[in-house]
Amino acid sequence: MLTAQLTISSENVISPVDPRLYGSFIEHMGRAVYTGIYEPGHPSADANGFRKDVAELIRPLNVPLIRYPGGNFVSGYRWEDGVGPKEARPVRAELAWQALEPNQIGTNEFMDFLALLGDTQPMLAVNLGTGSPQDAANLVEYCNFPAGTYYSDLRIAHGYKAPHDIKLWCLGNEMDGPWQICAKTAEEYGRAACEAAKMMKWLDPGIELVACGSSYREMPTFGEWERTVLRHTYEHVDYLSLHTYYTNDDGDIAAFLANNARMDAFIKEVGAICGEIKAEKGSSKDIKLSFDEWNVWYHFKKSGAEPPKWTVARPIEEELYDFADALLVGSMLITLLNNADRVKIACLAQLVNTLAPIMTEPGGPAWVQTTYFPFLYTSINGRGTALAVEADAPRYTCATVKDASYIDCAAVQNGDALTLFLVNKHLEEDIRCEAALGGAYEVLEWVALQDSEFGGVNTKDEAKVRPIVRPREDAEASASGVSFTLKKASWNMIKLRLRSKA
Ligand code: AHR
Repeated sequence: MLTAQLTISSENVISPVDPRLYGSFIEHMGRAVYTGIYEPGHPSADANGFRKDVAELIRPLNVPLIRYPGGNFVSGYRWEDGVGPKEARPVRAELAWQALEPNQIGTNEFMDFLALLGDTQPMLAVNLGTGSPQDAANLVEYCNFPAGTYYSDLRIAHGYKAPHDIKLWCLGNEMDGPWQICAKTAEEYGRAACEAAKMMKWLDPGIELVACGSSYREMPTFGEWERTVLRHTYEHVDYLSLHTYYTNDDGDIAAFLANNARMDAFIKEVGAICGEIKAEKGSSKDIKLSFDEWNVWYHFKKSGAEPPKWTVARPIEEELYDFADALLVGSMLITLLNNADRVKIACLAQLVNTLAPIMTEPGGPAWVQTTYFPFLYTSINGRGTALAVEADAPRYTCATVKDASYIDCAAVQNGDALTLFLVNKHLEEDIRCEAALGGAYEVLEWVALQDSEFGGVNTKDEAKVRPIVRPREDAEASASGVSFTLKKASWNMIKLRLRSKA
């Protein structure tokens, strides 16, 4: 049997895990909002029209923040369309997704939805496509200024006396992408983002700002875009964004599952660029990373489906996630944890219906997809301090990555608890793992996604992919660690508790 040696020590710390690593994203795109979170008349709708059945599936994920309202949508969004009496709000031809936007949900309703969820904070994006720095500042004034100004009084007149106090803001979205409404060069964007940032922080010095990095690592301008944008904005922003979606168009599962190694390299490259500009500026400040869009995305595009344009809730990008996708999502979470020193914010893109772990049927039920499970368990149990994992594991070469590990592992310590997240990417072989932990641990829980067909999916009628609980005795604890065998093609969470140090 193949074997792997893992060495983990509480002395070898990566960083405390910022809970915002488990953020998500709701865009006015497809059916994320209309017939997703919002469907007046649905049997489960509350007085505001929000689907309580959807909220009940979101709540266990414990998402600390949700990015809103886009995405590409935000680059043409006039936020003033979405506030005030609903009957007076305009219907717009929404250019990013070629749909009709009825503006029945806007900033205030989004805040109401977060209140329904409980303890979830907003991450609001401003329009730096068609929008100006002044429009961005006006939105901050509307949301965060207490009272006594035009926009703060407008908010109060709209029924929201207390300021929303929104702490986290994105300065536009993917502004380098030719698909973006009013895309910009790095110089143009850097200047606009800098000026917007100044105005927004003058209005509320307590806010944090995310500048746009490249739309993805393979953009021809990747690297130079980051450098130019940071040269303009360094002292005014707090985070730089990264986005990535992985595909499996040709059905090469081994290559698909290796993609988180590319995510890891991407993070390290952007981190190095931040360090380079810090040195160039002679700054004492570190720019942290916001991986505010990440996921798997290819099924819907591959299907060639082209729903009619210019409808409300145009049903686009409704990915049907399979077992292989769940494995990669689990691995991407492991990569985020292993970079917790740099990545402070991350958003699974997205949350409901559009590229989402949660699906709904209009007038019908809501259910969860395969990718819900690794996100759920990692979000709940992956909080504390990320420890470095030294792994000596078998490796492979494939179309996406030259030297990929068959075993991915992240370790998170929380008091006496140590939780391991593991993926065995080998498609044919189980792998025996010996984890040296520097102490005696007892096994509390082992949850796995395993023994499924790669194409297995969950629908409203049938869940083919569900986590199983493995007997605790399947992992053997010793005075200095724990040993276990990971099934071929499996995602695993093993929760341990310290008995005594070695
Ligand atoms: O999440 C879907 C889309 O992907 C977003 O609108 C955009 O930012 C990215 O290209």
